[in-house]
Amino acid sequence: PIPPTLLHEHAPGWTIFENVYMANGTLYVVTDAPSDWPAIEYITSTGLPAENTPESKEQRMPTAHEIDFISPVEAQARWGDEESEDDTRIFVVGGNTLLFNDPDQFLNHYYHFCAELFFGAWAFWSATFVNDTPDTFTRAIFPHTGRSWRDGPNMNSFFLRGGFPSLTVETEEDWEDRVSATALTPAELGRPGKSRAWRFDRVLLADRSAAFRGPECGARTQRTAAEAMHGVVPKNTDGEPIHEFLPRGWWEPVRRRVLRFVGVRPAVLNLFDPAHPEAVPPKEKIAVTYISRQSVRRRLIPEDHDRLVASLEELCHRRGWELNIMQAEKISREEQLIIAARTTYLIGVHGNGLSHLIMMPPTPAATVIEIFFPEGYAHDYEWTARSLGMRHFAVWNDTSTTYPDVNWASYPEGFQGTRIPVWGPYVAELIEKRADGKL
Ligand SMILES: *[C@@H]1O[C@H](CO)[C@@H](O)[C@H](O)[C@H]1NC(C)=O
Ligand SMILES: *[C@@H]1O[C@H](CO)[C@@H](O)[C@H](O)[C@H]1NC(C)=O
Repeated sequence: PIPPTLLHEHAPGWTIFENVYMANGTLYVVTDAPSDWPAIEYITSTGLPAENTPESKEQRMPTAHEIDFISPVEAQARWGDEESEDDTRIFVVGGNTLLFNDPDQFLNHYYHFCAELFFGAWAFWSATFVNDTPDTFTRAIFPHTGRSWRDGPNMNSFFLRGGFPSLTVETEEDWEDRVSATALTPAELGRPGKSRAWRFDRVLLADRSAAFRGPECGARTQRTAAEAMHGVVPKNTDGEPIHEFLPRGWWEPVRRRVLRFVGVRPAVLNLFDPAHPEAVPPKEKIAVTYISRQSVRRRLIPEDHDRLVASLEELCHRRGWELNIMQAEKISREEQLIIAARTTYLIGVHGNGLSHLIMMPPTPAATVIEIFFPEGYAHDYEWTARSLGMRHFAVWNDTSTTYPDVNWASYPEGFQGTRIPVWGPYVAELIEKRADGKL
């Protein structure tokens, strides 16, 4: 009557369990072989905010209060019914639960929520259960945040409600209800020796701190989704990945659902054709989108912005391409996503606006051009673009570099500033070379 817990898939920070139990805030793995399980610091954390200090690292280390291992016999003793072998004090939470153990420190940000957390969750889940669709998720639980899994512009809730219409959200108050209902002592429950527990059918537990303890995220990319991806890509007999990423099109089920919700027409959705993933869009469908950040903090030198716009206008006019100069904060969420859905070349200063790359058609032509303060570098959009099969170039004024030539994060003075240089004609030339197959 008490099914053991099964481990379906695991990578640092990403774990899919079947029959995981929860009582009084502790997740219980019911097993006779706890030593077969990964160390709990690779599964979870205390969910506290992350600072880059030894104290914070220590405070986020999980204990047996976060995850505990008990034998089926012990589970029977705690939660079984004393009068009937077939009855238990266990109550089933059915379906597929996303248990996102992160605090709102990162959740309330479009990039981290959509392009990292859901992105990683979908890679991990869809490769584990290959026939599942995004409908398959029953609920998302955020045990460490209240309403603030939402971001300022409300992209997160829009993405979540549009892409996953039947998904139910539970936040820390709801989790607290579940905790307190199972915190009662047997005496309080009037059932000597027996207390109450929940059994979750299937859970994907994602934990940012645990992902950072893994080498892909912690030592290389600082992308939690990189652990999820690394965990599920095809491996050879030595366990070495054959490919760095899942096959092109892996994110398409989610992208299509969000964009259909927005109202993007099938002809635009089909700029990427899952039946012909290596096809490139026809020349008359090429669209260049520059995300201007000139009214927010990290931005270009004003004259460099003007010169970039002029160079892009000249290029697109001459080649007959669509050009969008997008100031995200001035247009609606729908308009932003509609533009992203038909963009071939996305250009912008390092920042959240580039998160829209997850809504671009992921064809072999798709390209992200990220402008950094010279010598600055971060993996956020590079890893994300590459994982979708897109090319990524980092532009440092009048030069560019592309992974793996630059393979480290670097935040020089000026990185976050308002005087980032860029030589517009160089960016236009880069796009043109790429379009002409010279890169
Ligand atoms: C529930 O957990 C708290 C710690 O969070 C502990 O103090 C308390 O004794 C536990 N209650 C039961 C019934 O195990
Ligand atoms: C950017 O590149 C242009 C063209 O090569 C050059 O004239 C300009 O001085 C450069 N700016 C910076 C800040 O290096």
